Amino acid sequence: MSEGEGQGERKPRVFSGMQPSGEAHLGNYLGALRQWVDMQNEYDCFFCVVDDHAITGEFAGEALPTRTFELAVSFLAVGLDPSRSTIFVQSDVPEHTELSWLFNAVTPVGDLERMTQYKDKTARLSSIPVGLLNYPVLQAADILIYRAELVPVGEDQIQHLELAREIARRWNARFGDVFPEPRALVSGSGRILGLDGSAKMSKSLGNTVSILAEPDEIRERVRTAVTDPQRVRRTDPGRPDFCNVYTLHEHLTDPALLPDIAEQCRTAQRGCVECKGILADAIIERFAPFRERARHYRENPEEVVAILDDGAERARSLARETMAEVRARMGLDWRKGLSR
Ligand code: AMP
Ligand code: TRP
Repeated sequence: MSEGEGQGERKPRVFSGMQPSGEAHLGNYLGALRQWVDMQNEYDCFFCVVDDHAITGEFAGEALPTRTFELAVSFLAVGLDPSRSTIFVQSDVPEHTELSWLFNAVTPVGDLERMTQYKDKTARLSSIPVGLLNYPVLQAADILIYRAELVPVGEDQIQHLELAREIARRWNARFGDVFPEPRALVSGSGRILGLDGSAKMSKSLGNTVSILAEPDEIRERVRTAVTDPQRVRRTDPGRPDFCNVYTLHEHLTDPALLPDIAEQCRTAQRGCVECKGILADAIIERFAPFRERARHYRENPEEVVAILDDGAERARSLARETMAEVRARMGLDWRKGLSR
C-alpha cells in the first residue's frame, strides 16, 4: 500500500493481532480472520502476529520462529492481502513495547487485576509473571501506536478493548489529545465451541480443527466431534439447537442444505456420523483455497519474509511518528526539551 494513497479520503484505520500459537483454527477463522479479510477493502488495515504477547504465556523460544511464520502463512492463506493491508510481526516494531512501558505510567494495577483473561490464566499459577498482568497494556500500545479506530476481535477481547480506551483517555487527559478511543468490532459468530461441544475452541484444549489441515485430517477430527448428548442411539431423534455440529453447519455449510440437515436430525433419518461427514466435506471445500495458498507460501518462504519485511517497514514509519510525539509530550526528548 502506498503512503500517499487515498489523500483526502483517508480510510478509517483498523488494527488487530493474533498470538503465534501456530496455524490458525476454525475458531480463529470464524471469530476473527474471516472478518479481517472482509474489512480490507474499506479500511486501512494493520494485521499483526503478536509474538511479544506470546512470551507472557508458556512458550518455548525455539518453537516461536516457526509458529510466527506459520501464523503469517495462515494470514496469507485465508486471504489477507499485502497489497491492501499492512501485515507484520510485532517484534519487528519495537516501538510497541516502548509505548507499552510509557502506558504503564497511566494504567492502575487494579484495572489489570480485574481482567477476566488475567484471572483465568493465573488461577493455577503459584508464581505469576508480571507480563501476564501487563499483557493488555501492550495490546493497548499495539492499537494506539497506529491511532487505530477499529479493532475486529472475538468477544473475549471486549474487556481488553475497554481498557485500551481507558488508557487512551487517561493518557490524553494528562499529556494532550493524541490517541483516538478505539472501538471493538465483534464478529457475529460469537464464541465457537470446540469439537468437544463444551469448551471454547482453543489450541490449548486440543479441540480444534486447523484451517490448513489436509482433507483426511479434517475428516478424522470432525468424526470425533460431540453431538447432541441426548441422542444416544442412532434411532433417537436429535435436537439441532443443542448440537454443536449443527451450529458448525450453520457457519460453514451451504445455507440451502440447512433445513434438510436439521429435519433429518430431528426425525432420526440421518445419523450423526453421516451428518458429521457432510460437515467435514463443507470444511474441506471451504478451506481448499487456503490449503492451496499455504502450500505456495511454504514452498516459497522468502515471499513471506519479504511481505513481513515490507509490512514492518510501513508499520515502523508510522509507529516512529507517534513515538516522537508521545516522547516529546512526556518529556522524554530531553535534548530538545532543554531548549524549549
Ligand atoms: P487466540 O487464538 O485466542 O489468540 O485468538 C485470536 C482471535 O481469534 C481473537 O480475536 C479471538 O477472540 C478469536 N477466537 C479464538 N478462539 C475463538 C473461538 N473459539 N470462538 C470465537 N473466536 C475465537
Ligand atoms: N489479545 C489478543 C488475543 O488474545 C491478541 C492481541 C494482541 C490483539 N494485541 C492485539 C488483538 C491488538 C487486537 C488488537 O486474541
